[in-house]
Amino acid sequence: MALLRTVIQDTHQKLEAAGIPDARLEAEVLVMNVMRLPRQSIFAEQDTEVSEQQQAALDAFLERRYSREPLAYILGQREFYGISVIITPAALIPRPETEGLVEQALFMAMMGMESTDLTIADVGTGSGAIAVNLAIHLPAAKIFAVDVEDSVLDLAAYNIRAHGVADRVTLAIGDLLDAVPEPVDLIVANLPYIPTDRIPTLQPEVQKEPALALDGGPDGLDLIRRLLIQAEDKLKDNGIILLEMDPDQVPVVQELALKHFPEGSTSVDKDLAGMDRILTIYRQAPE
Ligand SMILES: C[S@@+](CC[C@H](N)C(=O)[O-])C[C@H]1O[C@@H](n2cnc3c(N)ncnc32)[C@H](O)[C@@H]1O
Repeated sequence: MALLRTVIQDTHQKLEAAGIPDARLEAEVLVMNVMRLPRQSIFAEQDTEVSEQQQAALDAFLERRYSREPLAYILGQREFYGISVIITPAALIPRPETEGLVEQALFMAMMGMESTDLTIADVGTGSGAIAVNLAIHLPAAKIFAVDVEDSVLDLAAYNIRAHGVADRVTLAIGDLLDAVPEPVDLIVANLPYIPTDRIPTLQPEVQKEPALALDGGPDGLDLIRRLLIQAEDKLKDNGIILLEMDPDQVPVVQELALKHFPEGSTSVDKDLAGMDRILTIYRQAPE
């Protein structure tokens, strides 16, 4: 039997040799996960023995990681905006930049709208990560979480139940806003926005995520374009749309949004890397 410190070093070296980015961090996360220990206890547990069973479980994880299966699929969960979200390969792994979308939605819901009694649509909900967080932080809101893919809705349903917000989040299957039964105050959408021909150039891990969650058509904007059309009927007069996208798509969507909502206005927020990432579209320009 080996000690935890040795197993971490060994795992680090194996991951590095396999060309896995952030090998040290991943080694710590994987080893602590098979040991069922919190990562912050890593120093206190340096001399803990790793059993043969635990080493076998770690080896099985490593085999999957060598084939570039994303870490979140192997662990079956991901932290997102302070909560743990269960993840399966049916769904996109929630990204740190999408936390900015949640943050902007909460800011708008708390500061930018007339009431807190809001109706919100999370379009393309995937794992439900956005909808769950909005429900946790906005206890008076009614949320519709929509996806076109059956298998992700099962996962979203699990996450919604696990976080105790099932009474306020309604899941629906359908194309974009089609399944949302009433006009909403806020539309929050992280829809697929990668141009089709860029997908084969992405990291191998990303290519293991569902194509339906990534592929936004020739210029990446197929779904956003259709969402803006549908929003004309489904967004209330003082409603707001929040969209995540790539920086070079922002000016295109800004122009498009103002064609659909000529009395509106837009603003842009950056992600942690300082790139334009979140577009806010006001149906009516604020005074
Ligand atoms: C980029 S993922 C976002 C998942 C999750 N909201 C997140 O941020 O982690 C996009 C999601 O949109 C869904 N989707 C794709 N086309 C759709 C459509 N026409 N109507 C509704 N959802 C769609 C996909 O199944 C996928 O779950």
